[in-house]
Amino acid sequence: MTNEKRQILVTSALPYANGDIHIGHMLEYIQTDIWARFQRSQGHECYFAWADDAHGTPVMLWARAEGRTPEELIDMMNEQHKADFRDFGISYDNYSSTHSEFNRDLVEQIYGKLEKNGYIDRRNIEQLYDDQEGMFLPDRFIRGTCPKCKTPDQYGDSCESCGSTYSPTDLIDPRSAVTGSKPVMKESEHFFFRLGEFEDRLQQWMTSGALQPEVLNKLQEWFADGLRDWDISRDEPYFGFRIPGTQDKYFYVWVDAPVGYLASFRELCERKGLDFDAWWQPDSNAEVYHFIGKDIVYFHTLFWPAMLMGAEMRTPTAVYAHGFLTVDGAKMSKSRGTFIRARTYLEQLHPDYLRYYFAARLGSGTGDIDLNLEDFVQKVNSDVVGKVVNIASRCAGFIGRRFEDRLSADLPEPEQYARFVEARADIAAEFEGRNYQSAIRRIMKLADEANRYIDEEKPWVQIKEEGSEQKVQAVCTQGINLFSVLISYLAPVLPFTAERASAFLGRDVSDWSLMDQPLTGVGINTFQPLLTRVDPVKVNAVVEASKESLQPAETEQVKPEDTAVEPLADEITIDDFLKVDLRVAKIVKAEAIPEADKLLKLTLDIGSETRTVFAGIKSAYEPSDLEGRFTVMVANLKPRKMRFGTSEGMVLAAGPGGNDLYVLEPDKGARPGMRVT
Ligand code: MSP
Ligand code: ZN
Repeated sequence: MTNEKRQILVTSALPYANGDIHIGHMLEYIQTDIWARFQRSQGHECYFAWADDAHGTPVMLWARAEGRTPEELIDMMNEQHKADFRDFGISYDNYSSTHSEFNRDLVEQIYGKLEKNGYIDRRNIEQLYDDQEGMFLPDRFIRGTCPKCKTPDQYGDSCESCGSTYSPTDLIDPRSAVTGSKPVMKESEHFFFRLGEFEDRLQQWMTSGALQPEVLNKLQEWFADGLRDWDISRDEPYFGFRIPGTQDKYFYVWVDAPVGYLASFRELCERKGLDFDAWWQPDSNAEVYHFIGKDIVYFHTLFWPAMLMGAEMRTPTAVYAHGFLTVDGAKMSKSRGTFIRARTYLEQLHPDYLRYYFAARLGSGTGDIDLNLEDFVQKVNSDVVGKVVNIASRCAGFIGRRFEDRLSADLPEPEQYARFVEARADIAAEFEGRNYQSAIRRIMKLADEANRYIDEEKPWVQIKEEGSEQKVQAVCTQGINLFSVLISYLAPVLPFTAERASAFLGRDVSDWSLMDQPLTGVGINTFQPLLTRVDPVKVNAVVEASKESLQPAETEQVKPEDTAVEPLADEITIDDFLKVDLRVAKIVKAEAIPEADKLLKLTLDIGSETRTVFAGIKSAYEPSDLEGRFTVMVANLKPRKMRFGTSEGMVLAAGPGGNDLYVLEPDKGARPGMRVT
């Protein structure tokens, strides 16, 4: 272990205050927390500070819709978010909100510096404006037809169907998502941050080891395109901080959001008596790390470091981006019950389970991480419960019953124990490099070895032999010591289980330096089960509850007889089958028809043409969850006139109906129009 004590600040991206925390967020917060806990286990001074991202148009509109003040809503969400984090064992030192006086002060200071140093420009621009509501419309609040592929009802900044990006003024037939009215062009003065001024300094920072290789590549592309000025102001009405010296201009939420990292840390400094300036001056020896998702790299690797440079402050030591969480191989989906809120999970399952699973999947890169629910049960049960916890429970019984909770005076296999401790440097390097997956692999190899040792020594057989009492005590002491090392290594990942282990062993297992001394000749505490197996029934309950919370009472219930397997149909020939022309189709649009209980109107792209199909799947799917998905359709079915229009085919789905229905999806790589045989 290095004996040099580092000073480290880590942050996670600030969750928006207008939404619940879900397990996708938790992937990031657990990744960060494991790293922070690991650093503390090495004896470093490490703080974890972050906040809610409270400003912006969505919060303002939400408050209006609820007839409450934004402050009331964000305070309520702040409490909920903190409770979710606490219950997941996130060891933050401070959790604040960007809507704080600390943050306002810092934003004004930084902006003041940027202005004084000549990095702010002002000029008039024209933007879409909702006359009825009296507000300028952010891109996400304008919908219209994509100028490229002509898909209707797309956002103002990008098309979900063809993926092209554009400016909202390019949309065909744009509408305000707030009032539905047709927006008009209106001019106003905006403030711009001159990002291009920082090109050289950013290049230098980027290549100093602050970024992952794939992020660096992405950035080089952006540089090649040229760095454009960044519009940092928004007109009234807006929920945010007013720009000093103006009447009706506000800082864009992405200006004060990263400053929230500083503000939260400053709050902590005041509370703990730490020297904020020493941490943030340009030549500070302290280290600062931002953990973020890959979707917000631009903000954290260009705007944010440039703002800090312009304000004559230090830049982050590194920015670490992770990939997105998928569940059972697909994007989290409300209709499938895989859009799982943190609270819904916690109501059924132990937080250490998910922490372990994420750790076992996380590497240092930006690849997506899949939570496979079956694998989740299997892996947690076999690794954590079956291997690690099992070592303690196999040995603790004898120590308790036969030896009054006393460990033997010496280890019978000191070399083996020494090897377990020697693995510390490698395991530490894996945690440091965010290769949690590799750390876990190393730890589990040791756990296998510890179990093999106990299997070979068979204390349960030896105990029956005359005069072998001391041997059994020694074997179990060895086992408990091996367990103690393993649970130390896992303490950053499994804080709750580690805490129970600490109580059992009478030693703080989260301090990795203590393993230098084995536990011998001392008493330990009576063993309490540390962690029980994952119950798959509870996992199902989480999925069910995630469905229910979004589809209230009106969902059709599946009747018991529906769950029986339908009898097979009569035999047909291959020619009979080939008469049916099945094609891969992309669902470019899915709309509910208010007057129809069961039908969704689907717009399907089958390569050569677009089809409209009315499908009886309304009670099983949220339309928005279907958009962008691929499926299989019967393309040569005779068109059928229906009350709401003509249905030009049929989409394939499995199940008896109601909410027990599953639209078929081809494997990745299939393209619209491919024949299905
Ligand atoms: N408020 C901004 C961040 C401001 S930081 C100065 C934001 N908020 S967010 O709530 O949308 O996301 C917060 C973090 O959670 C981001 O890093 C984002 O990438 C991450 N995730 C949100 N959904 C996720 C998954 N499904 N999977 C993994 N991470 C996800 O962006
Ligand atoms: Zn398009």
